[in-house]
Amino acid sequence: MGLPSGLSIFDLTGRVALVTGASRGIGWEMARALAGAGASVALVGREQATLDARVAELEAAGGTAAAIPADLSDPAGGTAVAAACAARFGRVDILVNNAGINHRRPLAEFELADFERVIATNLTSCFVLAKAVAPGMAGRGFGRIISTSSIMASTARPTIIAYIAAKGGLSSMTRALATELGPDGITVNAIAPGYIATEMTTPLQQNPEFDQMMGVRTPLRRWGRPEEMAGAAVFLASDAAAYLTGQTIIIDGGLTIAI
Ligand SMILES: NC(=O)c1ccc[n+]([C@@H]2O[C@H](COP(=O)([O-])OP(=O)(O)OC[C@H]3O[C@@H](n4cnc5c(N)ncnc54)[C@H](OP(=O)(O)O)[C@@H]3O)[C@@H](O)[C@H]2O)c1
Repeated sequence: MGLPSGLSIFDLTGRVALVTGASRGIGWEMARALAGAGASVALVGREQATLDARVAELEAAGGTAAAIPADLSDPAGGTAVAAACAARFGRVDILVNNAGINHRRPLAEFELADFERVIATNLTSCFVLAKAVAPGMAGRGFGRIISTSSIMASTARPTIIAYIAAKGGLSSMTRALATELGPDGITVNAIAPGYIATEMTTPLQQNPEFDQMMGVRTPLRRWGRPEEMAGAAVFLASDAAAYLTGQTIIIDGGLTIAI
């Protein structure tokens, strides 16, 4: 018996991945890595021009990609995105629920409309998309649903109550979907980044106290980079993770295990 090839267990040739929030940051790096592993990738975000530029970048590097602009804070957007991906590539094998926003205010100043906007974007859209793609995945007996949760699913800090509620819900929904969709050959997992230097965390990167805390409290002594989340997405999408479901994998430079 020969040795299994180190790379072939991560090969995604012939798979179709739908990645939300793929215009920049963590989602863009996940999309790039999935394309690099051989998947055709549908990129979702709100700005057509940005997505078109990203598609051109992937195609210039030999990948296959399509831009699907949509506002996922509207449930109709999620349903339309799943249909558009199926129309372009025939199906969705890998759903990456990554789009997300934050809103920072103390509780007394936190408006209901802002709470609902964060929940709609970060949590409800993941339910809508999972519901839209699961029947096709079940019919083919294969599917991967991967969501970007956060260390805030299991920890907390002041002023971001909607974000924390959404990410806690997303990790719980990951377990719920895993139990329901497992019999159909669909695995459902989440990645929980720590603090990653992207547009979303600009206010924290610019806060000297927080920046210093990251350099002292994090065992790896630095912020994470968006591309450092991408390997886990490829792993979870691949045959290498065929028996892994219902989990939230923390990638935080060790921040949450250190006292
Ligand atoms: N950065 C961190 O430290 C960190 C830590 C833990 C978890 N996360 C999670 O990782 C994910 C990506 O975050 P990031 O740091 O990469 O943030 P980012 O750079 O701000 O990227 C967010 C992405 O989501 C898209 N998006 C936002 N609202 C959308 C909407 N209504 N409809 C469609 N697309 C929308 C954005 O595209 P457009 O604006 O063009 O629509 C963009 O592509 C989020 O779920 C976030 O909560 C981040």
